Amino acid sequence: MSVQEYLDKHMLSRKLEDAVNAAVRAKTSDPVLFISNHMRKSVQSVITKIKARQILDSRGIPTVEVDLHTNKGVFRASVPSGNSTGMYEAVELRDGDKGVYLGNGVSKAVKNINDKISEALIGMDPTLQSQIDQAMIDLDKTEKKGELGVNAILAVSIAACKAGAAEKEACLFVPLYKHIADMSGKTNPTLPVPAFTVISGGKHAGSTLAIQEIMILPIGASKFEEALRMGTETYHHLKAVITEKSGAHNCNVGEDGGYAPNISSFREALDLVKEAISRSGYNEKIKIALDVSATNFCIGKRYDLDFQSPQKSGQNFKSAEDMLELYKELCSEYPIVSIEDPFDKEDWEHIKHISSLGICQVVGDDLLMSNAKRIERAITESACNALLLKVNQVGTVTEVIEVVKQAKEAHWGVVTSHRCGESVDSFIADLSVGLASGVIKAGAPCRGERLEKYNQLLRIEEELGDQAVYAGDDWRQ
Ligand code: PGA
Ligand code: ZN
Repeated sequence: MSVQEYLDKHMLSRKLEDAVNAAVRAKTSDPVLFISNHMRKSVQSVITKIKARQILDSRGIPTVEVDLHTNKGVFRASVPSGNSTGMYEAVELRDGDKGVYLGNGVSKAVKNINDKISEALIGMDPTLQSQIDQAMIDLDKTEKKGELGVNAILAVSIAACKAGAAEKEACLFVPLYKHIADMSGKTNPTLPVPAFTVISGGKHAGSTLAIQEIMILPIGASKFEEALRMGTETYHHLKAVITEKSGAHNCNVGEDGGYAPNISSFREALDLVKEAISRSGYNEKIKIALDVSATNFCIGKRYDLDFQSPQKSGQNFKSAEDMLELYKELCSEYPIVSIEDPFDKEDWEHIKHISSLGICQVVGDDLLMSNAKRIERAITESACNALLLKVNQVGTVTEVIEVVKQAKEAHWGVVTSHRCGESVDSFIADLSVGLASGVIKAGAPCRGERLEKYNQLLRIEEELGDQAVYAGDDWRQ
């Protein structure tokens, strides 16, 4: 082939001329860089390689990390994992060999990515998220993604989403939240109210507190940066309050960074938080939310508030009616605006009852397992009025967007959530902004894997500048 034929075949003269003209129009001071970026942008991107590996999550338990290569760059994602698992959520694939990582290895999921998924996706355009996700669903063929493993599928889905976002802008800073907003048809990316876990109990800590989390929501902040400051200052005041009352040994933290004082009374724990809020001076601006995670201590039809206690007296069993009374009292005594999983995940009757009282938002986590059919049932039966969104219970970015739409159409609140086992991937921060979920729950303002999400929200707010909107009082919209 002659030089001229080569130039003609690739339309190089025309493309170079366009790039030079664009550089002149932009009056750029670095035309070579501008032209190379311009030309790079005009190349259609395809997935060229997918390589997964086993890494460890924040608990020291194996999880999946993947590098998805396109002809424009490498995009990395890793997936979280939690304590609560249920029959309606997507299935994590674990090796089960007790001699290796106590059965928790994920080498099979990794192999599924490196062999089957990679073969199916190489050559696809990373901006076509729903086609990529559908290709993996088709390959898996099971309802709950148990064949390839949701840990394999989600890792690739998130990495593809990052690659798709990068495709939209020829710059290093990837506006992932904007790509997600575009895909969901949303035009109003919104910074969420952070729900900081300040007290950890239940299965997230080794204390005697049955309730899993007490969270604080700086609803009255004017921007996310201020919310982070308010939450963090209160978290530090809480440490001082606990130390004064019962000593520094009660300030050890649980899996998601909340303090885990060895107390069992809900009121005692809430009083500590109330005192910390008062010391920080944000009385009217910070509200409280609970994740009771009541399924963990429901025995038959009764709730064992001593389930974490080594010396169970058997005296602290409560009926669902007793629990309901307790919640009513707590909501009137403390600034509680939201309660997650107040009853067992199959106790639809009492969930409906508490929601009908209108005393606070009622969030379905274990109740819903982020499952579209369970959400549909809860909407039809008016069982709860907010979704706790755990992306690894869903499995693909496309389906995550769908369940959030489903919840929003029912005028529910949406809480984008981390898991107790996290990685340093900050994807859910961008997701919460792009889908305008209103609230993000990513643990305490402490510990790297939790802060990676909150710090990413700071960066997004900075990038949006004057356009940044903080959900604040509209946290449920
Ligand atoms: P998990 O907890 O990640 O341990 O399931 C989170 C939650 O219950 O909200
Ligand atoms: Zn929960």
